[in-house]
This record gives sequence, C-alpha cells and structure tokens, in this order.
Amino acid sequence: MNKTILNDPARPGRTDSEGTSGTWLRQMAVTLVLAMAVALVACEKTPSYLAHSERPDAPRPHAQIPYPRIDPFLGEQLHEGEEQVAQKIAVLMEQAIQETPRKYGMAIRDAHPKAHGCVQAQFHVERNLPPGLATGVFQPGHTYEAWIRFSNSNADPGQADITGDGRGMAVKLMGVPGEKILETEREATTQDFVMISHPVFIMDDPTDYLTFQRKMTSASWVDKVLLPFTLGVKGSWNALQITTKTIENPVQARYWSMVPYQLGTGRERQAIKFSAKPFSDSGQSCPDIRDEFPSDPEPNFLRTALRRTLAGGKACMQFLIQPRASFMSVENSQDEWNESDAPFIRVATIEIPRQEFDTPEKNRHCEDLSFNPWHALPEHRPLGAVNRLRKVIYPHISESRHMLNAAPRIEPRSLSEK
Ligand code: HEM
Repeated sequence: MNKTILNDPARPGRTDSEGTSGTWLRQMAVTLVLAMAVALVACEKTPSYLAHSERPDAPRPHAQIPYPRIDPFLGEQLHEGEEQVAQKIAVLMEQAIQETPRKYGMAIRDAHPKAHGCVQAQFHVERNLPPGLATGVFQPGHTYEAWIRFSNSNADPGQADITGDGRGMAVKLMGVPGEKILETEREATTQDFVMISHPVFIMDDPTDYLTFQRKMTSASWVDKVLLPFTLGVKGSWNALQITTKTIENPVQARYWSMVPYQLGTGRERQAIKFSAKPFSDSGQSCPDIRDEFPSDPEPNFLRTALRRTLAGGKACMQFLIQPRASFMSVENSQDEWNESDAPFIRVATIEIPRQEFDTPEKNRHCEDLSFNPWHALPEHRPLGAVNRLRKVIYPHISESRHMLNAAPRIEPRSLSEK
C-alpha cells in the first residue's frame, strides 16, 4: 500500500510488494539489474549542477498561482505535503537551469531542452463526434492554428539523436476562446497538449519524485546508483522503456499524454488520456512517411529528417482521446490504460504543411515558447498528482528561463502574430 495516499482501489502496481518472498527476491534481482542500467544511463547523461547563488527577491508571477484543488468525483486524491513538495522540486529545477547559461550560452528548459524544430500546423476537429467528446476545443468541424515543438527529453541538449531517449511532442492550439485555468494567464487564447513517446510515466508519488530529482542532480555516484530504488521496479522498468526509445523521424512516432485529463465540465465530466499517431490516407492528401535510420546518423539527424520531410510535402497525425474504463485510476501514472479496455477515438487530424522551419529567427521563437498542461480550458483540466505538481513547476521554470534570457514570455495568438 502506498505510504501517503489512502483508499485508492485502482493502484495494482503498488500491491507488488505484498507477494511471496520468492516474488520479492525476484523483484530485488530485477531492481539491481535495472539499478546498474539506469545508473549508467544517468551518470552518462546527467550534468552535475552547482548550487545556485542568486535569486531575485521580487515576487514573481508564478507565486500567485494556487495549488490545484482535487476533484474526488473523478478519483483525485491528495498526498501529504504535496504542495510543499512541488515547491521544493521547482526550486531544485530552478537551481539547475541557473547553471545552463554558463554551459550553453543561454538558459534552457530543465526537461526537453533539445528541439528538433517548432513547426506550424492546423488542427482539424472531426465533423462527427460522439456527444460526450464534443466539448472544449473539440468543436465539430473547427480548425485551429497550432505550433508543435518536437524534442528529446534528456537534460543534455548535446545528446545525439541516435541515443535512446523519450521524445516530446508539445502542441499549442491558438485562437481558443474562453477563460483559461491558469490564474496568471486567464486571457490567453491557447490550449496546450503535451505528450511523450511512451504511454506511462516513471512515478506518481510526489515525495518519491522529489527524492528522484535530488538524486538526479546530486554529484554523488552513490545517489545515482540508488535511483532505481527510488523509482521501484515498475518505475525503473518504465524509465528504461522511455530512455531506450529511438525514432527515425519525429513525425513517424506515436506520442501519449502519459497522465490523465478531464474532458467536459459539470456532471458530464470524465477522465481521459490523449495521444497523437502518424496518419496517412494512401497518399491522397496525407503521405505515408517511412524513413529508415540513417546508416551513419549525424547528432541532429531528427531535425534533418523533419526538415527534409517538410521541404518535400506535408505530414499528418491523428489526435486521439481515450475515455477511461471505470476501474482505471487518475492517480496512478505508472500503469497503462490498456487500449483493449479503453479504446482510443479519433477527434482531430493534425496537418503539418510543407514549410521551412529551420531558420535562426524561427528557432529563437521556438526556444521562447512555453508549453504547459495547465494552459487549458476548464474542459481539459489536468488530473492526478503528477499534473498537480506540474502546475507549480512549469510556470516557475518557464519564468526563470525567460528572465535569464531576458526574453518576453508571451502566449502567441496566431501563427503570423506570434
Ligand atoms: C512531476 C513531473 C514532471 C516535471 C517536474 C516536469 C518538468 C518539466 C519542465 C520543468 C519542463 C520545461 C518547462 C519550460 O521550461 O517551459 C518540462 C517540459 C516538458 N515536459 Fe515535463 N515534467 C513532468 C512530467 C511530464 C510528463 C508526465 C510529461 C508527459 C507528457 C512531460 C512532458 C514534457 C514535454 C514534452 C516537455 C517539453 C515541452 C516543450 O516542448 O516546451 N512532462 N517538463
């Protein structure tokens, strides 16, 4: 049973440790093997951060953002001290990014710092949608302009693309009317959907995440070796799956929200996850893109593949919604919502037209964008502990990054206006 969350019936992953001693020994053996694998990956990839020395004293906008209230109707449950834990993680991450200008010449994202490119897109909502799904931005037949940022997850922006890693796809719809959830950006006209190339996350306990972050940013070898014990068997397995992923082209991979979101408001609201998946219609409008790995991959071959694809034509993806089955938990981020129990339903087509995105000006604009799952209408409210932490952390880190870069922090209103 999880130590801080109570009465959550749908957390099968947390009952593993209650098995026989044989099971326990097997788990220990697996954990030790994974410990070595993850420690090697972590030691190779994680920069060691120095303690930061300065922080502006002036109150910052993120300080006005209250911690999210939980929604028991959808099964949310608060962990002890969650809000304080979120603040501590944010401070640790801020310390980390304060070191990045010295290393990279500018402040970079704490996660997903390496972009393959920010591309312009159209998000076409399906004309026919089941009534329960036609809510929020999913207005049948509506088209939104969008920015999409493709990225690698690793904290090292110099990591070669052929190295296994989580791959990010962050979508920002523009021209979205209605008051948004984030208290400091209520008037913004954007709705973000943030995804990674794996269906599940590494953990769902905030305190474990803080310990994980401390160990990740520690200079000590011992801390790195102990990382898998913080993640546990399931978390280490998920981490291994995420960090060993290689892809041929950013528009040829599938991406998932990993964690759940609300869909709709009032008594009709439900919990869902979402996903984006490559789509072709036998070359009529959306071509089939089937790149292979280059035989001698250059470090940024994913940017090259994206540039080549979009210089020659467009790319399409389907945007899918997965309404949960009643037994699935919104607090458990480590277990997949199996498609056989909860099928995905297509709600939109993402069209990425032919374009040239790889210019200094566009790459600079890409760096200055901020994606945040809480850039959302109430109909798409993020759910679960991981998402609640993100409400504190993303604005805090994005603000620090923009302050360090003396860059404006603005939600774009259209593709032309920025
Ligand atoms: C507590 C858990 C998490 C923490 C602390 C965290 C932290 C962060 C931070 C600090 C950033 C950079 C924000 C910025 O500078 O603008 C970021 C970016 C990102 N995160 Fe997370 N994250 C978490 C969970 C997740 C999950 C579950 C996903 C799954 C979809 C995810 C996907 C991404 C992606 C794709 C980006 C890059 C967005 C972009 O292109 O700008 N993160 N994360």
